This record gives sequence, structure tokens and C-alpha cells, in this order.
Amino acid sequence: MEEKKNQKQQWEKAYQNNVDFFGEEPSELALSVVGTLEMEEVERMLELGCGQGRDTFFFARKGFDVHALDYSSEGIELMRSKAEDGGLKMDIGVHDVRDPLPFPDESFDAVYSHMLLTMELVEEEISYVLQECLRVLRPGGLNIYSVRNDHDPHYGQFLHVGEDMYQNPMGFVVHFFPEEKVRRLSEGYLLEWIKEFEDSSPPFVKRLYEVVLRKPER
Ligand SMILES: C[S@@+](CC[C@H](N)C(=O)[O-])C[C@H]1O[C@@H](n2cnc3c(N)ncnc32)[C@H](O)[C@@H]1O
Repeated sequence: MEEKKNQKQQWEKAYQNNVDFFGEEPSELALSVVGTLEMEEVERMLELGCGQGRDTFFFARKGFDVHALDYSSEGIELMRSKAEDGGLKMDIGVHDVRDPLPFPDESFDAVYSHMLLTMELVEEEISYVLQECLRVLRPGGLNIYSVRNDHDPHYGQFLHVGEDMYQNPMGFVVHFFPEEKVRRLSEGYLLEWIKEFEDSSPPFVKRLYEVVLRKPER
């Protein structure tokens, strides 16, 4: 019988075996929201679950002051050597988002995460992460994230491991979000928009929600 896999080990292995697991190009989410970040005059931004940095490098090259975290040390080490080779200055670190974010209150103009909250995190943990993001954002700052949704071809498939959570044949647990869950988790924020999109980066096509939240002004 298929068993549930340790997710951190899964990511370490995936990144060890493939230096471009999601490809080299920035994600659909990064391309979609970069104009909004520029329009909002974002300077300092925090990326959570940065993986091997395909979006981190894109934002850094665009001139944003990017700080990025992931719990996979394989991914972070690879990013460090790539950043050195490319002469890019970046603040990158290993961190599990279930722990408090290592930054003071109101220290970022924006927080960004592509396909992090859709990992093996239960609703209570996701809510904690979103509240931590709220704490480190300045008033008026944006929290932009993406999650796979209940229209995704993998929703309801393979090994059921928890509420709306399924482990795919590659061994990754995915938490799928109905729109109502996104709305419920937006507590304390202004919900700017939820937009459905498709991401065809390797290894398969995914259907996601782009979510843009704003920390209210005081
Ligand atoms: C689907 S991948 C997306 C990676 C990257 N955002 C991208 O699009 O290329 C999810 C990432 O979240 C990281 N991750 C999963 N759970 C985490 C946690 N609890 N704390 C920090 N990072 C986590 C994984 O290591 C992985 O790099």
C-alpha cells in the first residue's frame, strides 16, 4: 500500500536530483503580478517557499530588494551559489514557515509565495502563516500568493491524506483550495482579488488561484 512521505525529504531529494525542478523561467504568477508590485512602488519584499529561486532571481534582476526563505537547504544552497556566480546580492535563508518569521513588525512592502500554502499545511497552519505575513507587512502592503484549486486535474486524485489534501505519485502532498477557503483565510486583510490561472511549468499543468490581499491602512 502507498505510504505518506516526509515532505521536507521529498523536496530535498527533488532539488538534489534536478537543479531546475520547475524550469528556469519565472512562474506565471511572478509574470502576472510584477506590474502590480511596480505600480505599488514595492521596494522590500519577502518571498516564502522560494524553492530553487526561479522567481527570486527574476524579482532581484528587476531591482526589488528580495528576502527569500524555504525549508529546503538544498534549494537555498543552490540559490546561494547561483547568486554569487551572477553577482546578485540577496538575503536567503532556511526557514520553516510553521515557525515565527525572523523579521520585525511592518518590515516589508510585500510578501509573495507561489505554491507554498498549497503544500502539506493544514488550515490552522496556513492561517498562522497568513497572520505572520500580516505582522511583517507595513500598513497598505500586499500579500500575494497562489494555491492549487479544486478545478485542478489532480484534485481528488491519488492518496487522500487530509482535508482537501492528496499525495501525488511523485510523493508530494498538495492542499487544494475551493474559493470559499481562500475567502475564509483572508481574515484581517482586504481581499483585492482572486483570479484563476493555469501554470504549465514542469512537471504537469496545474490550475491555481492568484490571490492578492492588502493589509489595511491604520
Ligand atoms: C511547489 S514548490 C514551489 C517552489 C517555488 N515557489 C517555485 O514556484 O519555484 C513549494 C516549496 O515550498 C517549500 N515548503 C513546503 N513546506 C514548507 C514549509 N513548511 N516551510 C518552508 N518552505 C516550505 C518546499 O521546499 C518547496 O520549495
